[in-house]
Amino acid sequence: MKAWDEIWKTKEGRSRFLVPDAFVVSLITNFKEEGIRKILDLGFGLGRHAILFAQEDFEVYGIDTSPEGLKCAMEWSKKENLFLHLELGEMSHLSFGHDFFDLILAWNVLYHGTSDFIYQTLREIKRCLRGKGYLLCTLISQRHSKYGWGKEVEEGTFVIEGEIEKSHPHHYFKRDEINQYLAGFQILKCEDKEQQLPGSFHWHILARLDSKWE
Ligand SMILES: C[S@@+](CC[C@H](N)C(=O)[O-])C[C@H]1O[C@@H](n2cnc3c(N)ncnc32)[C@H](O)[C@@H]1O
Repeated sequence: MKAWDEIWKTKEGRSRFLVPDAFVVSLITNFKEEGIRKILDLGFGLGRHAILFAQEDFEVYGIDTSPEGLKCAMEWSKKENLFLHLELGEMSHLSFGHDFFDLILAWNVLYHGTSDFIYQTLREIKRCLRGKGYLLCTLISQRHSKYGWGKEVEEGTFVIEGEIEKSHPHHYFKRDEINQYLAGFQILKCEDKEQQLPGSFHWHILARLDSKWE
């Protein structure tokens, strides 16, 4: 995505995406105990979570649309002496086989689009996730301070012209909708949390795949 490619080029743009989120960190031990091996980081950004998982000996794959993000993540993983399967790719059309991953992480990325796009991406996630596999993700919340800003291109989805990161559609979620979007998943945790920036509310979600066909 062009906007993120530009953001990753500046030191300031990179600065908020270098330390793994505490919720992701808190689940590592559980994932090990559950026998999780193969992890896909969708929209890995600079690689903060992909690298964390690789340091913990998981087998890590990642896709992102930003060449600049890929370059930064490759350099970072090289410095850490880690091997990760990172490539450019589009989350709505994954190149992986059925049932390939034990866990898919989609941190601050899934809501970048209109509802059709998000449903298509979730179908791909279900296809590539094995039965009882985990989805660890965030969805931007309607409590976010920018909810309602800009042009509403469909219900709950906004574009803010001229604002680099929000110049493409963002779908803001209310709690009820999440069950609908995550049909087929059992939602284990779902909390509306303020991230680093004031007013930056996102749903932090851990879900487990029950049925691929819902
Ligand atoms: C907010 S950043 C989050 C990065 C990372 N997940 C993190 O938490 O540090 C969003 C990332 O998703 C990527 N992205 C946006 N839309 C995408 C898509 N359709 N397919 C794959 N990656 C996408 C962007 O290039 C960017 O690197």
